[in-house]
Amino acid sequence: MIEIGADGRTWLLSGPTSSYALRVADDDALLHLHWGPRITLADAESLAAEPPPAPRPFEAPLDGREEYPVEGGPRFVRPALSLRTEQPHGTDQIRGTEWRYRDASVEGDLLEVRFRDEVVGLLLTLRYGMRGDVVERSAVLAHEGPADAPALEVLRADSATWTLPRRDRWRLSQLHGRWAAESRLTRSELTYGERVIGSRRGHTGHQHLPWVALDADGEATEERGEVYGCALAWSGSWRIAVHELPDGAVQITGGTGHDDAGQDLLAPGATLTTPVFAGLWSGGGFGGASRAWHAYQRAYVVPEADRDRPVLYNSWEATGFGISEEQQRALARRAAEVGVELFVVDDGWFGSRTSDRAGLGDWTPNPDRFPSGLKPLADDVHTLGMRFGIWVEPEMVNPDSELYRAHPDWVQHFPGRTRTEFRNQLILNLAREDVQAYLWERLDALLNSAPIDYVKWDFNRCFTDAGWPGEPYPQKLWNAHVRALYALLDRLRDAHPGVAFESCSGGGARVDLGIMARTDQVWTSDNTDPLDRLAIQHGFSQLHPARVMAAWVTDSPNTQLNDRVSSLRFRFVSAMAGVLGLGGDLTEWSGEELAEARTWVDLYKEIRPVVQRGDLYRLRAPEGVTGGPSAIQYVLGDDVVVLAWLPAQQYGEATAPVRLSGLDALASYECRETGTVHRGAVLLHHGLRTGLRGDLDATVIRLRRI
Ligand code: DGJ
Repeated sequence: MIEIGADGRTWLLSGPTSSYALRVADDDALLHLHWGPRITLADAESLAAEPPPAPRPFEAPLDGREEYPVEGGPRFVRPALSLRTEQPHGTDQIRGTEWRYRDASVEGDLLEVRFRDEVVGLLLTLRYGMRGDVVERSAVLAHEGPADAPALEVLRADSATWTLPRRDRWRLSQLHGRWAAESRLTRSELTYGERVIGSRRGHTGHQHLPWVALDADGEATEERGEVYGCALAWSGSWRIAVHELPDGAVQITGGTGHDDAGQDLLAPGATLTTPVFAGLWSGGGFGGASRAWHAYQRAYVVPEADRDRPVLYNSWEATGFGISEEQQRALARRAAEVGVELFVVDDGWFGSRTSDRAGLGDWTPNPDRFPSGLKPLADDVHTLGMRFGIWVEPEMVNPDSELYRAHPDWVQHFPGRTRTEFRNQLILNLAREDVQAYLWERLDALLNSAPIDYVKWDFNRCFTDAGWPGEPYPQKLWNAHVRALYALLDRLRDAHPGVAFESCSGGGARVDLGIMARTDQVWTSDNTDPLDRLAIQHGFSQLHPARVMAAWVTDSPNTQLNDRVSSLRFRFVSAMAGVLGLGGDLTEWSGEELAEARTWVDLYKEIRPVVQRGDLYRLRAPEGVTGGPSAIQYVLGDDVVVLAWLPAQQYGEATAPVRLSGLDALASYECRETGTVHRGAVLLHHGLRTGLRGDLDATVIRLRRI
């Protein structure tokens, strides 16, 4: 809901529990008024009527109060917008922005406030969309100057600047990581100055998820207290800067690109839209914030989120590059026996891809491995009652490939410089129209060549030599790559509506709200160790829902990573917290193991709606190898599912009961495992015994309200 103040210059956006308010002041500055619990329009107007803070020497009165600080004028904060004219205009190059308020419009839950910089012909539209309690902010830059006006170099155009209310101290939560150790949660006190996270790698990156959360005075707990969160919908380089100003005001600025070195060139008549930077206030602690983020993504971001994801099998850990049609068939038969619903052939099926040294770019089946193409295997997989999927990495090319030999100039590179290889591969310049056309043609043909239901889309190296010889403004390659990727995915989805997509980037290096809008699930991490995975999933769940979090049960010992030995029970319960998959060498599993796997898969299918669509409560956070038990709970309607894990029991002590959340204290709940009836108030206050003991134990407990 959006309300407009009496003079038409104050706006109040409200969701079910929160409000956001802003105002265009008499001098046309766009001021932030409120972000927090629901308030009325009268409250917003009274905030608007408050006198500005008294001026202080050496400080700018606007700093810390503006919705979108631009470069130039009376400001010292980091600008969200930094522009300059491309060539001298008259005698001087013009830099910065000076706007006049033009107008505003409200359509449903979308507010647009427009400003114009007459000197350079820029129309700037700031957008605010209310989606539940999430405010979606973005900016649109339009060059409205005459055809012969100089183009505008967009050095930086952030999506939004968020302003927090005054508190004594703030604590910052972030998700950091590296390969095989993504999305680990860390919290630290915010101090004066700036904390900058981001990626200058061309993709979202393993190092940080584009999300921050702040709680006042470090006082929020899992289920109590105020939490502010911001998440950027972008899959390329990005930056989020959290700054505490000298007077204690805190602002969060974020957008595409890491540096202010130039991102796009805006010619007269052209328009540029930034990605969405979404913000959420929750009064329900970190858990309440996560549930609101999950609900938002299921309702507004993830395609068809009301359809549960199938149990998949992926052959990567079982086979590596050594794949054959017969071996995949054997794996598929085993997968079908244990109840798998989607069988995915990973890397190694195409071109001359028998190792990571060759083949990327040549998206036709390897004739030695699949002499009649993929169709015979896909048909057999369908006959076994499963859907069929394949792996691709379309943005890449190996120098040893037909594609590279034909088009060595299609890769990002600087003339006269070494073409840096990681994993023996180079990056195609997706900003080029011929590359876009090639990829569309190849992938469309591939999806037409066999009954393919699922595509795992990988990206296994970062940008290094992001050059585009011959292009006068090569910097635009960075953002143009991501836009071309989005356009390609959107076009493929339109043309092949039955095909689902998974986002992968060497594990979880492309997990963000931008890719989530056009993929059905994401590969969380190459780390399939079920114990490490609990911490990775704990971090992931701060922002993203279980409905997109792919997790596989692989072999024990975990030879890929750490040789840790764990039971099937522990591995399954760990993976059942998200979208369950299997990734072990099923041809090596004993009859007993396969039978047990079948039981777990059946159980997962039963609890799947609650896991994938329910509300998540993190009951106890994982504490690593030597820590105590951890537990999570999902609630959907009357159904409750508790998953609990114990790394290691010490001193023979019984595991403490785990207190549940989000239940009706006055209701009773029947345990499906034991038939025991528990009182809601007792489960909430005293807890539920899990019976966990020994090393690496785990359990699933189903309760139903009666
Ligand atoms: C990296 C992915 O994360 C793995 O799951 C696998 O698909 C390999 N790439 C294949 O090269």
